[in-house]
Amino acid sequence: MAVARNLPREDGAFGFTSATAEDIDVFRSIVGEEGLVTDAEDLVPYNTDWMKKWSGSSRVVVLPKTTVQVSRVLAHCHARAIAVVPQGGNTGLVGGSIPTRDEVILSTSRLNEIVAFDAAGGVLTCGAGCVLEALDAYLTPRGHCVPLDLGAKGTCQIGGNVSTNAGGVRVMRYGALRASVLGLEVVLADGTVLDLLRTNRKDNTGYDLKQLFIGAEGTLGVVTKVAIATPPRPTAVSVAILKCPNFDVVLQLFALAKTALGEILSAVELMDSLAVETAMARCPGLKRPMELEDGAFAVLLETSGSCEEHDKAKMGALLDRAFAAEIVDDGVIAQDMSQAADLWAIREHVPVAAATGGYQYKYDVSVPIPRFYELVRAVRRRFQELSLAEDRAAAFGYGHLGDGNLHLNVVCARKDDEVLRALEPFVFDWVVAAGGSISAEHGVGQHKRAFLGLQKGPEALALMAAIKRAFDPRGILNPGKVLPDDPVSQ
Ligand code: FAD
Ligand code: MLT
Ligand code: ZN
Repeated sequence: MAVARNLPREDGAFGFTSATAEDIDVFRSIVGEEGLVTDAEDLVPYNTDWMKKWSGSSRVVVLPKTTVQVSRVLAHCHARAIAVVPQGGNTGLVGGSIPTRDEVILSTSRLNEIVAFDAAGGVLTCGAGCVLEALDAYLTPRGHCVPLDLGAKGTCQIGGNVSTNAGGVRVMRYGALRASVLGLEVVLADGTVLDLLRTNRKDNTGYDLKQLFIGAEGTLGVVTKVAIATPPRPTAVSVAILKCPNFDVVLQLFALAKTALGEILSAVELMDSLAVETAMARCPGLKRPMELEDGAFAVLLETSGSCEEHDKAKMGALLDRAFAAEIVDDGVIAQDMSQAADLWAIREHVPVAAATGGYQYKYDVSVPIPRFYELVRAVRRRFQELSLAEDRAAAFGYGHLGDGNLHLNVVCARKDDEVLRALEPFVFDWVVAAGGSISAEHGVGQHKRAFLGLQKGPEALALMAAIKRAFDPRGILNPGKVLPDDPVSQ
């Protein structure tokens, strides 16, 4: 399969050009001194991912403030065959925002302007660098909310969310982000500004080009503006954490919750006992809702509606039925929003706990819901067969049960190649054989690109490569990410 890589540079040589002092002068003339980072120490956070698993050696971060500046930076990089890594909040979990070598990092952090809010239509238009939580705070007094919520909301940016088609905890209510994106402004690799920034809900005028950039992880263009449909903010929210003694009854609770809570059910999150205990042990300040013995599960249920009395009555009725049927044997219902936040904090701190101390191997997979937890057991069995003790590699599972997205984390004292060999390709093979996806929401990035061929056939991969060539003929945008046959970091 032909790939959009290593086309001849203007000087006839192959490969990418490292940015020189002259290139940096050009960037300075475009974005000003305040839009450049070149100091070695200041570069470290841009060159390192949130988990500290991947690191790059970029020598310059460019922070444009306008679309025109993004266009001029990319036009220069394209002409000089300088590779570019788009970066938002740098909270990605697959190494997508980190250079594989000395690419220029294009940070969208200063593209953080709210452009417009159409209250009647509920459409928000903003710069790609707006932080998710800041957008939600802007919408709150206007009676709307962002249809996306995830643990990294205080740092991730809407452009990064779009570029990863982020999922999060309310996919069962609002869908993954692509369902809510109405329009995009994108700058292509050669600096061309592509105006797809429509705000209509309906637009059947041929190919829906914006969808190609959603989830493209910065390989097809730099998203500079986003128009997004924002739903009315629910005025009645209730949250409960319930204990289920085993996974079979978790499934029964899930089925019951869907029928008993109906249209107000907005999140169903699962944590196994080790996930909860890891969060409790490593994240001081969390309030333990109940004891959870080994092998038990905590299920977080959230309802979002518009009538507190009605919603509370429904949640109460569900709990009565669940306790009566012995599906649940303990539980806590939040009495106010502060208690609701305490319960959510436990769930949100599981990834933080996994990343605290030691080293982790992280998998984010879609699986058919009846088989949601099987992979965790399969991995534990494999560790036993390979005599990898639990204090060397502890596997736990949590995630978005509501949409079939399991997060399998394996925590180790340190980076451990034997553990990695036990996990890969085992996990990916298992998921594909189960009819799932090797990336439910985090994307492919650097981590999974070598395994993409397990998930997608050669015809699909050839089309992806052709699309890449059409959008980025010199292959300067985020090389070494997503596409499996990109030789840059192999
Ligand atoms: P970055 O990490 O900066 O970049 C991610 C990718 O998008 C990279 O490939 C980058 O090159 C590209 N990119 C970034 N901005 C642009 C742009 N403007 N144009 C083109 N390409 C761009 N993810 C979920 O889906 N669901 C979760 O529940 C969830 N929870 C998380 C919890 C924690 C604690 C953490 C640390 C991460 C979590 N994530 C989750 C992963 C991450 O937050 C998301 O992938 C998020 O959408 C990334 O946004 P970002 O701005 O940090 O992007
Ligand atoms: C989550 O759901 O907490 C996130 O996707 C992050 C993670 O998988 O750890
Ligand atoms: Zn998740």
